[in-house]
Amino acid sequence: MFFKQWMHNFANPGIKWGGSYVLRRMNQEHIPLFNFASQFFEIPVNGTVLDVGCGGGHHLSMLRKKCHSALIYGIDISELSVKASIAYNKEAVNMGLAKIVQGDVCELPFSDNWFDLVTASETVYFWPDVQKGFEEIYRVLKPGGIVAIYCDSCDPVAEKRHTDLIPGMHVYTSEELQSCAQQSKFLNIKINLSEDGKICLTAQKEGSFRKIPFFYMGNPYNTLAALWARTLEARQPVPILEDQNALDVVSNINYDFSYFADLGIDQVGLAVRDYLIDRMLKNFLEKNQDVTIINLAPGLDTRLHRIPENTYKKWIDIDVPLNLDLRRAFFSQADKLEVIAKSITDFSWIDNISKANEPKVIIAQDLFAYIELDTIKTFLTKLAHKFASIDVIFDLPSAEEMKENHSMTLPPAVVKKKPNARPSKKIEITESAQRPRILWTLQNVFEVQKWCKAIRVVEERNLFDYDKKRWGWRGFIARLPSNRARMSHNVVQIRLKRELLIDEKDRKVRKSGIETDI
Ligand SMILES: C[S@@+](CC[C@H](N)C(=O)[O-])C[C@H]1O[C@@H](n2cnc3c(N)ncnc32)[C@H](O)[C@@H]1O
Repeated sequence: MFFKQWMHNFANPGIKWGGSYVLRRMNQEHIPLFNFASQFFEIPVNGTVLDVGCGGGHHLSMLRKKCHSALIYGIDISELSVKASIAYNKEAVNMGLAKIVQGDVCELPFSDNWFDLVTASETVYFWPDVQKGFEEIYRVLKPGGIVAIYCDSCDPVAEKRHTDLIPGMHVYTSEELQSCAQQSKFLNIKINLSEDGKICLTAQKEGSFRKIPFFYMGNPYNTLAALWARTLEARQPVPILEDQNALDVVSNINYDFSYFADLGIDQVGLAVRDYLIDRMLKNFLEKNQDVTIINLAPGLDTRLHRIPENTYKKWIDIDVPLNLDLRRAFFSQADKLEVIAKSITDFSWIDNISKANEPKVIIAQDLFAYIELDTIKTFLTKLAHKFASIDVIFDLPSAEEMKENHSMTLPPAVVKKKPNARPSKKIEITESAQRPRILWTLQNVFEVQKWCKAIRVVEERNLFDYDKKRWGWRGFIARLPSNRARMSHNVVQIRLKRELLIDEKDRKVRKSGIETDI
């Protein structure tokens, strides 16, 4: 009786005693099966991969080893298996590289057309409705996506000694598995058998899925690193920033993110920066009606989709034409969105913005520090002269970051050299992109008030003061009073008020009714 109950752990670990032991054993015993099966499928670069019945989690870690930039998901019906898999892949889970949830293959909690690959190792025996399991896998696969179902045996007679002992276990013949795949509309069904009786069925969902090529004007390093950071963050157990859009872009873009696979501490910084800028923007929107948001050089930034549409009047993206084309390929165009296809430093775009006295806020994330300081000063002064009042939210890297070695090189990216070049196979230029240089920063943000009489600092926030646990010891060191000025990476909100440009004497003249020309 005890033995029979214990055997239940193979079908659903944890129901009876000894579940953890069984999971540990399976982690070891199923390695040869993985080695056999994994020759019949590929793990796509930054693809989305689901492992059904992930058990003790070793299988997930082997999938990860085969492709570092893949976004791996695991699902298991047993709570104990989910816990064991999370513990086994703790580091990857904490970085957002692996996400493991509890659920039944017959009711997968994922949207349609989401995965490039679904694997199922030694688990099909226990599914309550094997046909339904195949159908669900078909649903969640992208068109052209691959399923790989593998087992140590497909011989029900030889396995009777096991099926008699393990409640609910059923060993399927290769014909039975093939028929399930056919009935679920899978194509290219292949049955691979090993000499010692292992089976690996692979099949493909109808259709094909073409990832969008990454064409970019300018330096793609920061755009890609920030996108990858938002993607991993969205998969954290407790994310700083929830951004499903970033996840969608990464799974649809043709770029190998393995260079970034583990951004380490930078991931925290990138996520906190997004969070703090969102927060400042939301505060501004709460206090003001009919706001126009001007987003400078958004690249593949997903902020537009994080800010509720009913909280602002208009959203203007300003970027070079090629980058706006790239955005169009990924994001649905919100009704309130307007785009201006110009370079930021071609200040003529300022003339395209209405002078009307409605509240305006500019977002310049990860931008100013890469532009000559004199250009930024000229830019702010121009804004102050044109608008009665405008807020600017931007970030200032630390003096420490400025000193860092920026000579690292990215894997080849498709970068356009000519601003007016349209994406086409012929003019693709594959080159490595250097990490851009930080040209300037300020240790005291109030120095901006010296640049132009119209500028006032509204708020400044140091990234290290948020999500302290995630920063770990690096954050502790950066917060020490002796290091603060040198190590702080700040997010700053400034307000430009035109009336401050007029000095006291002129103001009196104005009050008396005579207009001055400023
Ligand atoms: C024998 S273990 C295999 C674990 C792992 N795949 C491996 O190869 O080591 C079977 C796993 O399938 C899970 N399982 C059984 N029925 C399931 C279902 N309907 N949906 C999802 N997982 C299921 C069990 O909980 C168990 O963890």
